[in-house]
Amino acid sequence: MTQMKNYLVTGAAGFIGANYIKYLLQHFDDVRIVVLDALTYAGYLGTIHEDIDNERCVFVKGDIGDAPLVQQLFQEYKFDVVVNFAAESHVDRSIENPQLFLQTNILGTQNLLQAARTAWVTGKDEQGYPTWRAGVRFHQVSTDEVYGSLGDEGYFTEQTPLCPHSPYSASKASADFVVLATRDTYKMPVSITRCSNNYGPYQFPEKLIPLIINNVLHKKPLPVYGQGLNVRDWLYVEDHCRAIELVIRQGQDGSVYNVGGHNEMRNIDIVKIIIQSIRTIMDEEPQYRSLLADGSSTEWIDESLITFVKDRLGHDARYGIDPTKIGNDLGWRPETPFAQGIQKTIRWYLDHYEWVKAVTRDDYQQYYEKMYQHR
Ligand code: NAD
Ligand code: DAU
Repeated sequence: MTQMKNYLVTGAAGFIGANYIKYLLQHFDDVRIVVLDALTYAGYLGTIHEDIDNERCVFVKGDIGDAPLVQQLFQEYKFDVVVNFAAESHVDRSIENPQLFLQTNILGTQNLLQAARTAWVTGKDEQGYPTWRAGVRFHQVSTDEVYGSLGDEGYFTEQTPLCPHSPYSASKASADFVVLATRDTYKMPVSITRCSNNYGPYQFPEKLIPLIINNVLHKKPLPVYGQGLNVRDWLYVEDHCRAIELVIRQGQDGSVYNVGGHNEMRNIDIVKIIIQSIRTIMDEEPQYRSLLADGSSTEWIDESLITFVKDRLGHDARYGIDPTKIGNDLGWRPETPFAQGIQKTIRWYLDHYEWVKAVTRDDYQQYYEKMYQHR
C-alpha cells in the first residue's frame, strides 16, 4: 500500500502555490494536502475551488503567524512536509508598507518553524541536538531577489552572498537565514529553493505580465518603469512547481537549490511581445474581440500604448540564475520554452477573463490609481 504523506502547503490560494497543489494532485497519489491561506488580496479561493475535495485536499483560512492555529493543525493532521509559499510577494507594495512584509515573511516563517519543531522532535542526541521524526521536511519557497542585483555579466549561484535591496527581498532573505539557522542550531531537515521570475496562469494582475495583458484589453497605457531595460529571468510556473517537488523528494537535507531557466529578457521586450501577440490573436480570431474595451477595430493595439513611467525605487537592474546544481544533482531542466509559455499564458488570460474580473473586483482600481498616479 502507498505510504501517504501529509503536506501543509501555505499560501496556495495565490499564484505559485495554487499551481503547485494542482501539480501535486495531478502527479502524485501519495499526498494529502492541507492548504493554509489568509486570503489576502492576493489569495482567491475560486482558484483552487475544484481542488478542495476534503479528502486529499482540505482548505483552512488562517494566518501563518497565528501560533495556536498552526500548532493545532500540526496536532490534527500530523504533517510530514511543510511547503511555505505564503508571503507578501509584490516589491512595489513592499516599498509602500515594509512592516507587513517583515511581519508575514519573517515572523510567519518563524512561527511555522516553531510549530514544526514542537511536532517533529523525538528526543535528543548525545551532544544535545534534537532528533527528528523520520521523513519530515520543511521547505521554504524563496526567490533569486535575495541575491541582489547583477551587472551585465555573471549569474547567481548558491554561493553568491545574499544582498537584498527591497523591503520584500530583505524579508525573504531574512526568512532564508531563519530557516538556515533552524537547520544549523537544531538540525531540522529543511530545504530552500530560490527561483527566478515566474509567469503563467493565476498570477495576480499587479505583476508585469498579467498587468500588461489586462491593460491592453482595457486600452489603458502600459506602464514601463524607467527605460524598460531591467532584465528578469523568466520561468514557466509549472517548471518551478516540478523543481520544488523534486527538491522535497530527492534533494539533500539542509540544501539550497537555485531554480531558473536561463531565459533573461528586458522588460520592454516582454511588453512588445505581449502587444504583438494580442494583436495577432484579435486579428485572426475575432471571437476574442468581445474582451476588448474598444473592439471596434484592432488598429490601436500597438506600441503607442507603451508609457515610460517613473522608475521603481531601488530597482534591481538584472537577475540571472545559475541552475547548474539542481540540473546536475537532481536532473531538473525547464520544459517550457518562453516563446511557448508566453503564448499559453496570454491565451489562458483571454480564456479565463472571468477569473481576472473576480480577483480585481475589490480594491484593485484603488490600488492601481494609488500606485501609478505619481509615475
Ligand atoms: P502571491 O502573492 O500570488 O500569493 C501569496 C499567497 O499567500 C496568497 O494566497 C495570500 O493570501 C497568502 N498569504 C499572504 N499572507 C499570508 C499569511 N500571513 N498567512 C497565510 N497566507 C498568507 O505570491 P506568489 O507569486 O504565488 O509567490 C509565492 C511564493 O513564491 C512567495 O513566497 C514568493 O516570495 C515566492 N516566489 C515568487 C516568485 C514569483 O515570480 N512570483 C518567484 C520566486 C519565489
Ligand atoms: O525574481 C523573483 C521575483 O519576481 C519574486 O520573488 C517576486 O515575488 C515577484 O513579484 C517578481 O518580482 P519582480 O519585481 O521582478 O516582478 P514584477 O512583475 O513586479 O516586475 C517585473 C519587472 O517589470 C521589474 O523590473 C519591474 C517591471 N515593471 C513591473 C510592473 C508591475 C514595469 O516595468 N511595470 C509595471 O507595471
